[in-house]
Amino acid sequence: MKVIPIPCLNDNFAYLLICPETNEAAVVDPSEYKPVFKEVQKRKVTLTTIFNTHHHWDHVGGNDELSRHFPGIKIHAHISDRDRVPGQTDFLEDGDFVQFGNQKGSILHNPGHTSGAITYLFGNMAFTGDTLFSGGCGRVFELQKHVSQKHPDINLDPVSIFTVIRKLKDQF
Ligand SMILES: [Fe+2]
Repeated sequence: MKVIPIPCLNDNFAYLLICPETNEAAVVDPSEYKPVFKEVQKRKVTLTTIFNTHHHWDHVGGNDELSRHFPGIKIHAHISDRDRVPGQTDFLEDGDFVQFGNQKGSILHNPGHTSGAITYLFGNMAFTGDTLFSGGCGRVFELQKHVSQKHPDINLDPVSIFTVIRKLKDQF
């Protein structure tokens, strides 16, 4: 699988994933339409899929326009992000498998940055959205919400975020 980072907004990236066998492509977290569309044209690939890691506008901002220009495009996000991710067509849960072209991946649910945050795993690659950065983890906006909904008796922010990160580390 080929991965092409696409600079978006001022300091953001979407990632174009290309299946070399079928020439199909997927895009991870398209914050805007134009740069993604240009890269798709330049590479002469067929865009069939969007993988959203979470619902923040700087990860889903291009969804609507992409789905207008690529009718039938599949838009994946966590099941709990129903109504928060524009145009969502596929509602994922922890451990679900995803596919575009001949490329198969799976997802991890890692609530913390948002309650519906997920990571897409393809081979030895992980697309974590805002859960992990090179210097540490992203801001934890909704962990407390997730923990209190799932485990009302628990109040353990630092431990929970550690568990989320360790879950990712255990994959590699
Ligand atoms: Fe975010």
